[in-house]
Amino acid sequence: MNHATKMRRGRRTGAIRRLARRTTLTADDLILPLFAIGGTGKTENINAMPGVRRMSVDVLAKTCETLQSPAVMLFGVPPQKAKDSTGNYALREDGLVPEAIRAIKSARPELAVLTDLCLCGYTTHGHCGVLTASGEVDNDASVRLLGRVAAVHAAAGADMVAPSAMMDHQVDAVRSALDENNFTRTGIMSYAAKFASAFYGPFREAAGSNPGFGDRSGYQLPPENREEAVRDALLDEKEGADWLMVKPAMPYLDVLLDLSNATRLPVAAYQVSGEYSMIKSAAGCGRLDETDAFIEALTAMKRAGAAAIISYWAEEAIQTLKTV
Ligand code: PBG
Repeated sequence: MNHATKMRRGRRTGAIRRLARRTTLTADDLILPLFAIGGTGKTENINAMPGVRRMSVDVLAKTCETLQSPAVMLFGVPPQKAKDSTGNYALREDGLVPEAIRAIKSARPELAVLTDLCLCGYTTHGHCGVLTASGEVDNDASVRLLGRVAAVHAAAGADMVAPSAMMDHQVDAVRSALDENNFTRTGIMSYAAKFASAFYGPFREAAGSNPGFGDRSGYQLPPENREEAVRDALLDEKEGADWLMVKPAMPYLDVLLDLSNATRLPVAAYQVSGEYSMIKSAAGCGRLDETDAFIEALTAMKRAGAAAIISYWAEEAIQTLKTV
């Protein structure tokens, strides 16, 4: 047995370990999700996500003035009474998301504004598309609607729209709708590999988007199947996506790695609400160190191939990175 190779030589000091690093998390990697509500001067806590707040558009814009993250991902949270069966509110040019885009862009023009593009927050039944008479999600009607919503976001100044409904050919429909309306500069970050996941639980409280009946397994991906996820994601590349995304992140690092190797497009990872709440809760009762845990989790996502990460800890992570 040859004992000449000593792995611990490379781990002996911090400086030596840093030199050999293959993965470095930086501020440039992070996208902060933001939830917009109506009213002015309003912030609301989200029980299931301690530390995350819904904010009225004016407060959001003010918050953006001092953000360190290079990008935000916007979600609109309209009141229940604004919802209907087809999510019409999502088409309003004076809706929460378009208003928030304009306010953020005037407060911080250089901040990249991405918008979640889905219907679940706007429909009374809480599904990600419109329904047929028999109560199934109507794929083609839904993607046409998503295309129109994308144009509304683009007109308000969104840099990228992020279709998350998991409808077939939604990227194609969104790209066509954008181009037909001369929004050729607006990008698409596709929620390409989005799994039917229990880890979205806290978000559904945050956004009030729980499906009223059934679940999302008729359109979101089955957790058991990596091949299907990569195949589905690569279709979005063919349809014209500029970015692909894997979501959730930590339970699906194998998919992230596989997809990153299968495409030359940048791939984002979404560290979702359940991943956030899980670590928060464990840290809250003293079972692990919150900062160490989220930095390790984010670093693992980068190692698995993420070019950017959507994280509720984006600001805290950047703050931490400055001090290490
Ligand atoms: C909209 C959407 C969801 C999330 C992002 N966009 C919820 C869902 O699909 O049910 C989840 C984000 C998170 O859990 O942090 N479809």
